[in-house]
Amino acid sequence: MAETFTLRVRRYDPESGDAPYWQEFDVDLEPERSVLDGILQAKDDQDGSLAIRCSCQAAICGSCGVRINGKSSLACNTKLSSAAELSQDPDGKITVEPFGNMPVIKDLIVDMDAVHWKKIQRVVPWLLPEGDPPEREYIVDPESMIDITQSMACIQCGACVSACLSLEVDPEFVGPAASAKAYRFVGDPRDAHTEERLLDLAMDPHGIYNCTHCFACVEVCPKDVAPMNQIMRLRRRATNDYEIKDPVNGYGHEKAFVDLIETYGTLHEAQLLPRSFGEGSLVRGQTKPAAVKQLLANTPTAIRGLKSGKVSPVKVFWHHKLPDQKQIKRIYHEVEERGERIELNLYIVGESGEEEQGAMSEDTVETS
Ligand code: SF4
Ligand code: SF4
Ligand code: FES
Repeated sequence: MAETFTLRVRRYDPESGDAPYWQEFDVDLEPERSVLDGILQAKDDQDGSLAIRCSCQAAICGSCGVRINGKSSLACNTKLSSAAELSQDPDGKITVEPFGNMPVIKDLIVDMDAVHWKKIQRVVPWLLPEGDPPEREYIVDPESMIDITQSMACIQCGACVSACLSLEVDPEFVGPAASAKAYRFVGDPRDAHTEERLLDLAMDPHGIYNCTHCFACVEVCPKDVAPMNQIMRLRRRATNDYEIKDPVNGYGHEKAFVDLIETYGTLHEAQLLPRSFGEGSLVRGQTKPAAVKQLLANTPTAIRGLKSGKVSPVKVFWHHKLPDQKQIKRIYHEVEERGERIELNLYIVGESGEEEQGAMSEDTVETS
């Protein structure tokens, strides 16, 4: 049975010269119908100038992305009833805004070319194989494609780009969708430019080390691509397989984390920054001219830490070890003794496929 839902839509036409404003539309629809259905009804019956981009209405084409109650979503994939339930408005009004991190063309339509597609093009989104193409198709072992299946599920909707907090701070950041696309080719056994691709993304100061692991892209992705996980995979490949040392110390920072936990069992905060600049090493790395320069540049951060009590001269040199530290070391040794890194992708097989290889969740289990 139809119910009345109120959509509170952000209207803006940059060409008009007028400031953005909010407009409310009451729509009568069954609760299981989508927010897109509501927007289209408002457009048909109340204001034909309301702009929204859409096509498939089935969460496939990726064109109807908007922010619903602040969360980047597909309008066709969000039920009116759940949007009203999750609304922070006391009357259950559903707030609909255009995507973030992209310029608005009109109302709910953003300029995907200016941000999303530009970033996708930046990562060379096509296969670069070696030599002449085979007479027929490339034959690959199906097992070798498992690892990239998750990134191949992307429908290029841009929801992750809209939600990315690092992009808000650094619009030049390559971003979640383009990074997932990059992994799609880095992990493809037919591609012959793995090292070049990784070098490109690691050496770029706006590249893969600009991700702050905020999980926003993982939460909003309608296809469970988990872009942050793909960024972690790119980093693992860059550091473990090619030992690429990036200019923003991503390599050193990760190494410092790993080494400190191996030594102490918990994070020795006072040593994290200096060890990061010293590529993980306590003394040798930190006395290198480049490390000294970076340490000096970060003196204000150290002073802030001292003032807040987070670090102190005593804490720099002393940090307690866990009583069971031997157990932590044992885990490290066990993993390090493995001949090869295991990247177990549990994405590709659905819940019904527990007996098949892989299994049931959208997430991945990774060990290194
Ligand atoms: S996890 Fe990284 S890429 Fe994803 S939204 Fe956060 S900062 Fe952006
Ligand atoms: S990774 Fe997910 S959220 Fe990002 S563009 Fe692809 S499908 Fe959309
Ligand atoms: S209209 Fe195609 S994904 Fe929503």
